[in-house]
Amino acid sequence: MSSELRVENLRKTFSVGAKPAVDDVTFTIAAGEIVVLLGPSGCGKTTTLRCVAGLEHPTSGKIAIGGTVYTDPQAGVLVPPRNRNLGMVFQSYAVWPHMTVRQNVAYPLKARGIGGAALDKGVKEALELVELASYADRPVTQLSGGQMQRVALARSMVYQPQILLLDEPLSNLDAQLRLRLRDDLRRIIKRVGLTALYVTHDQTEAVVLGDRIGVMRDGKLLQLDTPSEIYNRPADLFVAGFTGATNVVDGKVVSRDGDFGAIEVASGERLIARMSTDLPIGAAARVALRPDNVGLAADGDGFAGRIESRHYQGTQTVYRLAVLGTTIEALEVGSAARYAEGSTVAVAIPPDVCWAYPIP
Ligand SMILES: Nc1ncnc2c1ncn2[C@@H]1O[C@H](COP(=O)(O)OP(=O)(O)O)[C@@H](O)[C@H]1O
Ligand SMILES: [Mg+2]
Repeated sequence: MSSELRVENLRKTFSVGAKPAVDDVTFTIAAGEIVVLLGPSGCGKTTTLRCVAGLEHPTSGKIAIGGTVYTDPQAGVLVPPRNRNLGMVFQSYAVWPHMTVRQNVAYPLKARGIGGAALDKGVKEALELVELASYADRPVTQLSGGQMQRVALARSMVYQPQILLLDEPLSNLDAQLRLRLRDDLRRIIKRVGLTALYVTHDQTEAVVLGDRIGVMRDGKLLQLDTPSEIYNRPADLFVAGFTGATNVVDGKVVSRDGDFGAIEVASGERLIARMSTDLPIGAAARVALRPDNVGLAADGDGFAGRIESRHYQGTQTVYRLAVLGTTIEALEVGSAARYAEGSTVAVAIPPDVCWAYPIP
């Protein structure tokens, strides 16, 4: 039975005086929803997940699963991990090496007193789900990394947990396998209809897997939204940068019109950008934009730019571009690099994918 997860004002400080590892984090995952916590190493993702699992005791805050409070240190409530009915998959392949695939997946059911036909049926279904039915009698040590992670997944789902917790489950796999299992994971979790909390530092993993993505930094949850909102309306400079908007152009707000405004930049030109609410006229602003949203043309309308250098990468070309009184990168998709070093270009920067924030 999948359940809603509610995390309220979660805070975890490991030692007195230290910066909190998790700092006032609040979110809800609906039953059957996949939420991915995304952020750089050390931002508090694993600690948040371990608090949900009951492996870590938070300093304060509340965690409820399916409406039942499992963690509330102020009220003295801390239900131990084994009584939370959660499934967990970690980075390392936590499978039992001395057992076969079938024995690994059967174990959690046996531990719950399930045997006979119910056991056989549960194991069979779980193995079919992860496409390992034909490997049932193999020792797990004869499997590839990806197959071992499938066993770990089957084992964590076979007893139908209320919530599935996954902590960077793909990071030990080689690149190709990671891509395949990434796509499979979402399909498998959705087929069972599990509520899932998934933790990763990899943006593309977050986008492919999550119904919603929560971006974390320094223990704080900065933005929790659909992948498309995160990518098209990043809440701040950090979220913009972390999702690939690596170009920044500084300037000053000279006008505002609803969600948009004009920023006067170093060259004296005006760049139209989508404005964060806390940017009045006269304020210093930093504009973030993605290299793939910088449009280049041989001539026509746009800012005057000059190609400083180009790096041909086969299926795309990255240009260093002098424009707006600074240097930014532009990405051209395709195997033809159309602009030579030293050439002048017309640079189009669509306001909708150009975001202005206060300078921190
Ligand atoms: N057991 C611990 N004792 C002390 N500090 C810890 C412990 N676990 C994590 N931390 C600290 O908490 C912060 C968040 O860590 P973590 O949740 O593991 O981040 P992430 O999973 O996002 O990489 C880091 O600064 C880390 O050093
Ligand atoms: Mg971690």
